[in-house]
Amino acid sequence: MEYTRTKNCVSKKKIIFTSILTLFAFIIMVSQYNSAPRYLSSFNSMSTITQNLPQLLLNSTKTKRRQSLTQPTDVAMNSKYFHERHNNAVKQSHFLKISRMQENISSNHGSPRIVLILAYMHTGSSYTGQLLELHPGTFYSYEPLRTLQHMAKNSLYIKYLNGTSIRMSEKLYNHVGGETVKNMFSCNYDNVDVSTLAKKYGTEYLNMRDFKAYYQCLKLRRSVLGKTYRTSMKVALGINRPLNDAIETCLPKLIKNCQNSNMRAMKMIRMHMAMAEPALRTFPNMRIIHLLRDPRAMLDSNVRKHELKVYKFSEFKKRTVNMCKKMLSNFQEAQRLKALYPGQIFTLRYEDMVREPIQIAKSIYDFIQVPFSSLQEEFVRKRSIDRTNNSTVRANKWRHHISYVHLHTVEKHCHRVFDMFGYLRLGSLPNVRNLTISDNILNFFSN
Ligand SMILES: *[C@@H]1O[C@H](CO)[C@@H](O)[C@H](O)[C@H]1NC(C)=O
Ligand SMILES: *[C@@H]1O[C@H](CO)[C@@H](O)[C@H](O)[C@H]1NC(C)=O
Ligand SMILES: *[C@@H]1O[C@H](CO)[C@@H](O)[C@H](O)[C@H]1NC(C)=O
Ligand SMILES: *[C@@H]1O[C@H](CO)[C@@H](O)[C@H](O)[C@H]1NC(C)=O
Ligand SMILES: *[C@@H]1O[C@H](CO)[C@@H](O)[C@H](O)[C@H]1NC(C)=O
Ligand SMILES: *[C@@H]1O[C@H](CO)[C@@H](O)[C@H](O)[C@H]1NC(C)=O
Repeated sequence: MEYTRTKNCVSKKKIIFTSILTLFAFIIMVSQYNSAPRYLSSFNSMSTITQNLPQLLLNSTKTKRRQSLTQPTDVAMNSKYFHERHNNAVKQSHFLKISRMQENISSNHGSPRIVLILAYMHTGSSYTGQLLELHPGTFYSYEPLRTLQHMAKNSLYIKYLNGTSIRMSEKLYNHVGGETVKNMFSCNYDNVDVSTLAKKYGTEYLNMRDFKAYYQCLKLRRSVLGKTYRTSMKVALGINRPLNDAIETCLPKLIKNCQNSNMRAMKMIRMHMAMAEPALRTFPNMRIIHLLRDPRAMLDSNVRKHELKVYKFSEFKKRTVNMCKKMLSNFQEAQRLKALYPGQIFTLRYEDMVREPIQIAKSIYDFIQVPFSSLQEEFVRKRSIDRTNNSTVRANKWRHHISYVHLHTVEKHCHRVFDMFGYLRLGSLPNVRNLTISDNILNFFSN
């Protein structure tokens, strides 16, 4: 009798456990299709176990609250509630182990993880960002310097909530951008310029989980979103007072999400390595992933996707020269920073990532000192391996497409980049098309 009951009990547990796993997989699938995984919100309406995972993490990394903008909230109450339920419900669960581990990590170091992905177009940076976003308790922002870079390129005025305004320029971009990155990682969003705060970007087709409430609030207050570029001069002159008011009303939502996180991650293709320094100085545990790729592949992607007017040869050439110059200067700057901040910068080639997707995903998580779980593994499998054409096949597309003129141009102007990052010149189209001929040196970086 005793025996059968136990056995029954065990198999029930097994069933529950399996259904939870299936649910996890289901969430991943669904959110994949939306291209907008909303793990935290999905969790909240699900089983006790899944509810507890993110809440526990939020609880363990409670940070100091901002006096000026954030009102006292219900987070503390919620987490107490969840914590109690947690104790009752899932003592032996696998998820508990994961969350305990993550709890250890955040509590051992006391402060949230700060992770920057510095990348280029078509290097798999969105994928890498999503991989980090999967970690429960991550506050993730996607291309947050997009607006600032636009303002700099067009010499437009930016204005801060305190009334200060600056005419941006390419020259100022590094300094202002670097401070902005630092402020964002610090959750000091009230020190970020109004245009950046007003311009909605990415919520339509990306997750932007942590920005949704803020943007929704802003949209309700004023229908200014999307018009910011055109009205930027007005913003600078202080004419757009309602916008500032809306931002000041809504910002606490964003700041709260940021402060409650146990990891703050950003991915940017619009950043120079030098701009990371203010943040590196501020956060001793900051990690930078410098993600790059064979310039032939990146530039051919631009051509295939009709981007940046590279159909004009003069534009293609200009972009080639600029891209490789930027890659070189970022790498040199990274070497300088690596000496000052050892172990905090990880150079990663896209080619290595697609060849060993799981292994590399694990090493990314190792690098940021966060446990890698089945959640991440599932994601990598789905995105990189279990497809008609796996990531390696897709990564090689350029070799079937690139023209001789383009190949020659890149190989001529990027030879230093090739040497620095372990890419091999192919010289002729027959070599490019013959995939048995390697285009890069295996495991060139050991960091
Ligand atoms: C959660 O927060 C409460 C209140 O700040 C604290 O008493 C409790 O120990 C925390 N729990 C964990 C698991 O960190
Ligand atoms: C968490 O830390 C404690 C001691 O600090 C250790 O005993 C325990 O094994 C750690 N748990 C995990 C899952 O790493
Ligand atoms: C206003 O805020 C910006 C950004 O934090 C800062 O650079 C500037 O010095 C501030 N101006 C004043 C007058 O405090
Ligand atoms: C992708 O598929 C090719 C064969 O089509 C195989 O050799 C390669 O190992 C696969 N790569 C991954 C990452 O699964
Ligand atoms: C990718 O898969 C499709 C079939 O789904 C096939 O037609 C195509 O040739 C494949 N691409 C490569 C580069 O192998
Ligand atoms: C591809 O390159 C390999 C190695 O150089 C060579 O043996 C092979 O004949 C080439 N294949 C074709 C179709 O040219």
